[in-house]
This record gives sequence, C-alpha cells and structure tokens, in this order.
Amino acid sequence: MKPLHEKVALVTGAGHPNGIGRAIAQKLAEQGATVVVTDLEQAAEDMADAVEQLKALSGDAMAVAMDVTKKEQIASCVEQVQARFGKIDVLVNNAGVGLGSTDFTELTEQDWNISLQVNVVGMANFCQAVIPIMQAQGGGSIVNIASLAGLGAIEAIPACYTASKFAAIGLTKQLAVNYAKQNIRCNAVCPGSIVTQMHKATLEFIAQEHGISVEEAQQHEDAGIPLGYSAQPSVVGDAVAYLASPAATYVTGITMPVAGGMSPGI
Ligand SMILES: NC(=O)c1ccc[n+]([C@@H]2O[C@H](COP(=O)([O-])OP(=O)(O)OC[C@H]3O[C@@H](n4cnc5c(N)ncnc54)[C@H](O)[C@@H]3O)[C@@H](O)[C@H]2O)c1
Repeated sequence: MKPLHEKVALVTGAGHPNGIGRAIAQKLAEQGATVVVTDLEQAAEDMADAVEQLKALSGDAMAVAMDVTKKEQIASCVEQVQARFGKIDVLVNNAGVGLGSTDFTELTEQDWNISLQVNVVGMANFCQAVIPIMQAQGGGSIVNIASLAGLGAIEAIPACYTASKFAAIGLTKQLAVNYAKQNIRCNAVCPGSIVTQMHKATLEFIAQEHGISVEEAQQHEDAGIPLGYSAQPSVVGDAVAYLASPAATYVTGITMPVAGGMSPGI
C-alpha cells in the first residue's frame, strides 16, 4: 500500500505547471494522497489541468481558487475541502512571492506588506484554519516551504524576502512545539536554487544588475552549489512527500535544506 493511501493533502500555490507547488502535489498523489490544489483565481485553468493529472495518479483531486492573504477565503477553502473529503491530513504551505529590490534602501512599504502577508501571515492563517481539524482527527503533518534564505542571508536576495522566510521558519518551530503533544508535526523545507518562474525572474534581475547574460548568471549560481546544478521542482516534492509520510513520524520542528549542499550564507 502507498504511504499516503487514504490521506487528504492540501497544497497552496500549486497552480503553475512548472512551479514547486505543482511538483509537490504530484509527488503526494504518486504516494497515494487525494490532493487539493489551491492558487490565485488567475491560475484556475492551470489548476483544472492539475486536477486531471492528479486524479489519474490517486483517484480523486480538487482545486480551489483562493488568495492566502484573505482569511475568509482560507476559511471557505477549508470548509469546501471538509465538505468534500471530511478531513485534512497534510497541509503544505507553498504559496510565496519573491519581490522587491536587492538595494535595501529602495524597498517600499508595499514590498514589505506583500512579502509578509503572503509568505508569513497567509501561512499562519492557513495553519490556524487547519490545526483544529487535525486536532479533532488525532494528528496531521504541516510542511511549510521556506527557503535557504530563511536559514541565512544570501547575496542578491531582497531583505523583505529573507526576513519573511526567517519568520516562516520561526512560525514552523513554534507550531512544532505547541502541537507536538497532539501528534501534529510541523516542519519546513528550505529549497536552494530550483528551476521555476520565480527563479528565472531572480536570474534575470541578477543578469541585468551585473550586465551579464541570464546563462552567465545561471553558471555563476551553479558554481556556488556543491552538487553543481540548479534542480527541478520534483526534488522539493520528494522532501515534502517524506515529511508528510509515516516514515517521518518522529520528525518535527526541522528545517530541511534541499539545496545541493549550497550554503545559506551568514
Ligand atoms: N524557486 C526557487 O529557487 C525557490 C527557492 C527557495 C524557496 N522557494 C519557495 O518555494 C515556493 C514556490 O515557489 P516557486 O519557485 O514554485 O514560484 P512560483 O511563483 O512558481 O510559485 C508560487 C505560487 O504561489 C502563488 N501565490 C502567490 N501569491 C499568492 C496568494 N496571495 N495566494 C495564493 N497563491 C499565491 C503563485 O500564484 C504561484 O503559483 C515559494 O514559497 C518560494 O518562496 C523557491
């Protein structure tokens, strides 16, 4: 029997076909979970495609268009999942934004607000909506997608992103402590350089700043990764599938780098 047989998993920010969220949803479905994908309304078509692919893997799936910065939309999403599947065993907070200037003095209030609202408060609000369900069920697994930039400060990353990911890790650890006795595990995965649209935008920015090509920016980044390359989103899916599974029953409060050995900086 597959490790996540009869489990219901919800993944936020899982609309984009080449994003980390979609790869996580796929891995969880491959492990037998019924997966709920959520993302912004603009990703509705991509989510409909995802549902078809996920159904083919594990039998059933569902999509909910919603914004993680809207508490009432989180509540409505969780209600819809409860009405349809009656439980949530795994919550993966993957939705995230990477924006703002790498020049700290140029960061705007809006850069800070959006970064913190999506990457931290949205994550916290989703946990708050799902934890009572997990408590009633006798347990569950929460996996928060932070970043290597949540473990240390890395060059060419906006301060609002780094600060938001440090906060995501703080939230993860606090929830791990608070709910361990109720068999709710809470862990963070910290991706390094993963090939997605967000990563492409970062490379384009670095290339522009340094007057080099995107390929040269990629080569420079890869040179700082001990394994020597930027990875596909599926590597993050594998880490999440492990943390969500019974194989990780005794694992809570960890921050797992998935970064090819890359250093998180200072
Ligand atoms: N790509 C990398 O190298 C990398 C490295 C470290 C961490 N991460 C983290 O991994 C996660 C996924 O990133 P990705 O690279 O796949 O980028 P991505 O832009 O493809 O995915 C982010 C997803 O979040 C969704 N989203 C954004 N704001 C939202 C909101 N308010 N409500 C609901 N959904 C929202 C987007 O629509 C998108 O589908 C993010 O949390 C990111 O910070 C990525």
